[in-house]
Amino acid sequence: MALEKVRDLLCAAQKANTSVIAFDACDYNTIYACIKGAEVARRPVIVMLYPTMRSVFSFGAFAATVKDLAKSASVPVGLHLDHCSELPIIIEAIRDGFTSVMADGSAMPLEENIAFTKSVVDIAKIFDVDVEGEIGHVGQVAGGFDYQNADTFTRPDEAAVFAGRTGVASMAVAFGSCHGMYKAEPNLDLERLQEIDKAVDVPLVLHGGSGIPADQLEKAFQMGINKFNVGTEFFLLNTKLCKEAYTSEELLKNPFAGITSIRKGLTEYIAKKLELCEMKV
Ligand code: 13P
Repeated sequence: MALEKVRDLLCAAQKANTSVIAFDACDYNTIYACIKGAEVARRPVIVMLYPTMRSVFSFGAFAATVKDLAKSASVPVGLHLDHCSELPIIIEAIRDGFTSVMADGSAMPLEENIAFTKSVVDIAKIFDVDVEGEIGHVGQVAGGFDYQNADTFTRPDEAAVFAGRTGVASMAVAFGSCHGMYKAEPNLDLERLQEIDKAVDVPLVLHGGSGIPADQLEKAFQMGINKFNVGTEFFLLNTKLCKEAYTSEELLKNPFAGITSIRKGLTEYIAKKLELCEMKV
């Protein structure tokens, strides 16, 4: 199977009233585990890269790796550039093979966010690349963001204006989630999500996926979330598995033994997480 368009995966999820799950990856093992885990779970998957990570894994090499593994995968695979608020970097990613990008203007005032996001959509359209925008703001636990504060949540009327004026293919929205490991269990405002979903037609995206309880996710997926982003817990698991693998005595006999055990642990995690997605392929 070749790489699939993210927009097609999200439209299929919207029709099926569920969410595709998107994981941030950082190296060959994490990309490999996303795709192998998806094959085990028989679910579609989206593999994402943070733009800051291009210093360790270039855009071109990352895109080529995902495309190469997608070619022989038995399930649909999407490729996406995560949070980026700089147009030249987004253009670089598109030039180097990314087929979907996030234009994150959520820290900007509304009009500036609309203008920035629309400028990305206009360019991306030429190359048939999908754009995810963000309206409202999902912050960082590490930055002290108050994710329980409803003043930071997406307003349905603004979401409708944002979708209409930018032409985004999908839209990240804020209703009680935050990036990083939560200090206190999140309590998603599902009523707000339903109001946003009523106000717009485009697929909605939930960021800050690490540590949200499964029962809340199941409801959010039924109420309009069609793309669900996970990063931190996957990276922390990778660190733990690497630590265990590279301190094992076994490595002195077989220097490559670590790779196998890291991939196995990561693949099991992805397969289990993907069971939350109701779209079996
Ligand atoms: P977490 O790192 O909190 O899982 O969030 C990931 C994310 O939303 C990436 O866009």
